[in-house]
Amino acid sequence: MKVVGIVGSPRAESNTAYFMKVTLEVLEKQGIQTKFISLRNKKIQPCTGCYQCIEAKRCTVKDDFHDIFDQMVEADGLLFGSPVYHASITADLKALLDRAGFSGRWAVNEMKEKTENYNWQKGTVFSGKVAAPITVARRAGHDFAFAQLLMWMTVNDLTVIGSNYWNVGMAGKGGAVDAHEDTEGVSIMQHLAQNMAYVIKQLKK
Ligand SMILES: Cc1cc2nc3c(=O)[nH]c(=O)nc-3n(C[C@H](O)[C@H](O)[C@H](O)COP(=O)(O)O)c2cc1C
Repeated sequence: MKVVGIVGSPRAESNTAYFMKVTLEVLEKQGIQTKFISLRNKKIQPCTGCYQCIEAKRCTVKDDFHDIFDQMVEADGLLFGSPVYHASITADLKALLDRAGFSGRWAVNEMKEKTENYNWQKGTVFSGKVAAPITVARRAGHDFAFAQLLMWMTVNDLTVIGSNYWNVGMAGKGGAVDAHEDTEGVSIMQHLAQNMAYVIKQLKK
């Protein structure tokens, strides 16, 4: 049982990383192996829209994407954490998710003739996994970034895990790293982790 937590902040000291680590700590305590991945210093280009993954069954753009993608595919659970940038997830996380979602679909499906409807019988490489978003802002825009992540999860055949409130954190006036002061946010992340551990254990029975 393994959960991978990916953080889209480009900063070394990061509020989003703090909330992610809080969540992963509880999962570890529940007996789930975890891996924390920061996109800081990773080179992940945006999707080029080349459509070569349909034939190649993998993204053909060569950079740090592949190592992270492989770890996402191996995991039972995925957590995506993003700072809110202009009411959106960060560009780095968007690049990862665009490429993972598109190539992860074509990795297990064939392109039909133009006259036939798409038929996603084989799901995606993420089918059967559980996932949850974590978004962190100073003031506003959490919900749009949160919704972006939910939309990615629900189109890619993952099952979304909830908490006792939306998994959003408050932090960072003037770039401060003070997420630990959001004790309500911390407890929401801890509850999220308990829910995710419970569901993964049920699915693995
Ligand atoms: C380019 C940029 C855009 C931002 N946009 C928003 C925003 O739309 N709403 C908000 O409340 N905070 C915004 N912030 C503040 C960050 O969301 C906040 O500092 C957050 O804690 C950063 O997360 P991190 O510490 O994990 O990097 C923005 C910060 C940057 C650098």
